[in-house]
Amino acid sequence: MFNKRVKIKELLTWEPKEQEVTVMGWVRTFRNNQFIALNDGSTNNNLQVVAELGKFDDELLKRITTSASLKVTGTVLASLGKGQKLELKATAIEILGDSDAEKYPLQPKKHSLEFLREIAHLRFRTNTFGSVFRIRHSLAFAVHKFFNDKGFVYMHTPIITASDAEGAGEMFKVTTLPFDEGKNKTPRNEDGTVNFKDDFFGRATNLTVSGQLEGELGATAFGEIYTFGPTFRAENSNTARHLAEFWMIEPEMAFYDLEDNANLAEEFIKYLIRYAMDNNREDLEFLAQRLADEEKQLPQDKRSELGLIEKLEFVLNNDFQRLTYTEAIDILKESNHNKKKKFQYPITGWGMDLQSEHERYLVEKHFKKPVILMNYPAAIKAFYMRQNEDGKTVAAMDILAPGIGEIVGGSQREERQDRLEARMKEMHIPIEDLWWYLDTRRFGTVPHAGFGLGFERMVQFVTGMTNIRDVIAFPRTPGSAEF
Ligand code: 4AD
Ligand code: MG
Repeated sequence: MFNKRVKIKELLTWEPKEQEVTVMGWVRTFRNNQFIALNDGSTNNNLQVVAELGKFDDELLKRITTSASLKVTGTVLASLGKGQKLELKATAIEILGDSDAEKYPLQPKKHSLEFLREIAHLRFRTNTFGSVFRIRHSLAFAVHKFFNDKGFVYMHTPIITASDAEGAGEMFKVTTLPFDEGKNKTPRNEDGTVNFKDDFFGRATNLTVSGQLEGELGATAFGEIYTFGPTFRAENSNTARHLAEFWMIEPEMAFYDLEDNANLAEEFIKYLIRYAMDNNREDLEFLAQRLADEEKQLPQDKRSELGLIEKLEFVLNNDFQRLTYTEAIDILKESNHNKKKKFQYPITGWGMDLQSEHERYLVEKHFKKPVILMNYPAAIKAFYMRQNEDGKTVAAMDILAPGIGEIVGGSQREERQDRLEARMKEMHIPIEDLWWYLDTRRFGTVPHAGFGLGFERMVQFVTGMTNIRDVIAFPRTPGSAEF
């Protein structure tokens, strides 16, 4: 058996008592031809491996370069050096893979996040990305734990669908049709449109933008379900908060109204934060320090009032601010920011869609905490949201987080078939195509609600990373699909 290694994270918790162990990992640095800082990805803390002078061949020592991979067997001793409790005195060092130091793009110095994005295949080997992606893993695990403990059923909704759940038309087509002009021509109907009858599925299909509609089918049988999978949006938004491929968690619950929905969403977000605080303390502290160092470069008024950990504590210890869209519009309209014309999109009045600058004003400047906005105008929300008695608003809710903006979008669903169909007609949603969705309203319809949490935005919030491209391994954004 090859792998009888101890992980460095575990080893570093031991009391040094001359244990014989084997570790494996990648060299971070090699000092004085004697001290190897070895990292195996289990923690940012390197293990100090000591190669005693004179004990190893010069030929071997020359091959201990940054990012070379090693198998080291040795004895665990108390360390005299600063900054570590123990070290490994090597008895045998085997080079598993050489690394040409001249060509290796990561030097033991600070690189910009932009540069690291260009070498995203190697950036996991930096402390920053080590921390971010261990936390991302933890949060994904916590998502399942939260819902599993509550008895929700994890549902795998399809990636390829024929429906546009949000009705927003921002979809990637899925097709095997040729799009040549020559012999292998795109099949067309008489009117010139593409004939999808000849396509793989015999109809036009796309990558899913949301698993919600299928999720509702599950909730109206299991009671409570959640999805957690990739979703795709062909929106041409080149921002620090948008991806063309992102992961979304969509719980859907029968017998829930809007308030129940908001309560669950708030509990869920706090649970995820708590989970990371309890299980990723070291990585959070590293990222908090990184952020603090970064902010030192900024002018005083651009710096955050709270450090990363204090921000997370604050969110855990305070209720989210709940208010209606109508109340939010009033606050924004009356704000000095609006009066001094500092919004790029001035507040014109009730009915307008909120831009991210407005959302951020509410959370960052006005309330200084996460906000749950409820009961939006029907005209700016999707067809499936429950129509309120005022005839103008729907039972929608968005959760806005400091530094991020919208992190959750959800609603109580319109369970009344007649109302739902009337709304679909108004919004030109093809009723015939969604016959299966409408069946839930025909056969034992129930009040139900759900929401979608953008997983990367949640990871951004917890890690403090300002660009969403730095919390997903290989970001897909307009003009970019490398790796
Ligand atoms: O608000 P959205 O579009 O809502 C839905 O898709 C509903 N079907 C959810 C539901 O009720 N089941 O998206 C939900 C969340 C947003 O709040 C945001 O956090 C995230 O998904 N999101 C994105 N994240 C990254 N990149 C994008 N392009 C995103 N679009 C939405
Ligand atoms: Mg939304």
